[in-house]
Amino acid sequence: MATAPSPAAAGVSLRGLVRRFGAVTAVDGISLEVEPGSLVSLLGPSGCGKSTLLRIVAGLEPPDAGSVSIGGRDMTSLPARERPTAMVFQNYALFPTMTVGQNVAYGLDVRGLRNPERADRVRRALESVGMADLADRPVPKLSGGQQQRVAVARALAVEPRVLLFDEPLSNLDVALRERTRDELRSLQRNLGITALYVTHDQEEALAVSDRIAVLRGGRIVQEGAPEALFEAPSTSYVARFLGGANLLDGRASSALAGLDVPEGSALAVRPDEIAVDPEGTAAVVVARRYLGSLVELDLRYEGVDLRVRGRSDAAPGARVGIKARAWRIVRRDD
Ligand SMILES: Nc1ncnc2c1ncn2[C@@H]1O[C@H](COP(=O)(O)OP(=O)(O)OP(=O)(O)O)[C@@H](O)[C@H]1O
Ligand SMILES: [Mg+2]
Repeated sequence: MATAPSPAAAGVSLRGLVRRFGAVTAVDGISLEVEPGSLVSLLGPSGCGKSTLLRIVAGLEPPDAGSVSIGGRDMTSLPARERPTAMVFQNYALFPTMTVGQNVAYGLDVRGLRNPERADRVRRALESVGMADLADRPVPKLSGGQQQRVAVARALAVEPRVLLFDEPLSNLDVALRERTRDELRSLQRNLGITALYVTHDQEEALAVSDRIAVLRGGRIVQEGAPEALFEAPSTSYVARFLGGANLLDGRASSALAGLDVPEGSALAVRPDEIAVDPEGTAAVVVARRYLGSLVELDLRYEGVDLRVRGRSDAAPGARVGIKARAWRIVRRDD
């Protein structure tokens, strides 16, 4: 893949951002530093404010409080077209009556760019997503994956300093989603361009990000490198959202780990951290799901429901022993 020239990477600095819609506070005091050239994911469930935050960075949504700086420059009161950002949407938002090339040129036409600069930028942007030979094709004659690449090329053509992705893979089927995810990530790395990447999919966030900000109700509840968040969640919410952790306290935690957790805390144990012993009897198998390379069991143990993932022949109704191989203590916030 050819590498399109890109301007020097710019960091993004968000300070105290707030956005209200009537009684709903969609963004509730968000501060975040994005290093130049890095990809930071905004991860959280539907309605937690991810898109609103991204739109504030793009200048498509005015914040009620707080500031946005890019490359050290305050952009809070600049309109979208004057910001060095470009957005890639979930539904691609391509113009169906235009060709691939015309779509990619759109942002350049808006800015009044003329040939040969215009044609040159379109070619470079299409080259960088491996679509140079399809410039004259009408958009409806492209696959979903190809349309997604055109949307990325259109964003790159304006030579932004920051790329903003809003769930860019949600419309693709599973196999294509993984491939496109990896392509997007290597393109972002090769260009050395700063990116903010919205997703509600924890696996996707873990796979593409330099850092992840986990959002809940318009706030960042934890921010860090993927490994750090996965291995050391600070709250029960993050432990459940990122690792699908079981949360235990009281009798269940002392039985499983020999540990009494303090009031307001929980023992977080991921499904892959529990070993099943066919000789034991402490837990009852409630359900079993065959996942191919692994088996998932729902267990009833010391009055709580636990999920376990690994290898086991145990069928529903059977009794098994269990042992936690690892765990961490987290603050209860759910
Ligand atoms: N223009 C608007 N007018 C009124 N309420 C809005 C508007 N935009 C967003 N909201 C509300 O703000 C909250 C956050 O919405 P937002 O779209 O940012 O969430 P999201 O995290 O992107 O969710 P999803 O994963 O479903 O896309 C929601 O409660 C939403 O209903
Ligand atoms: Mg959204």
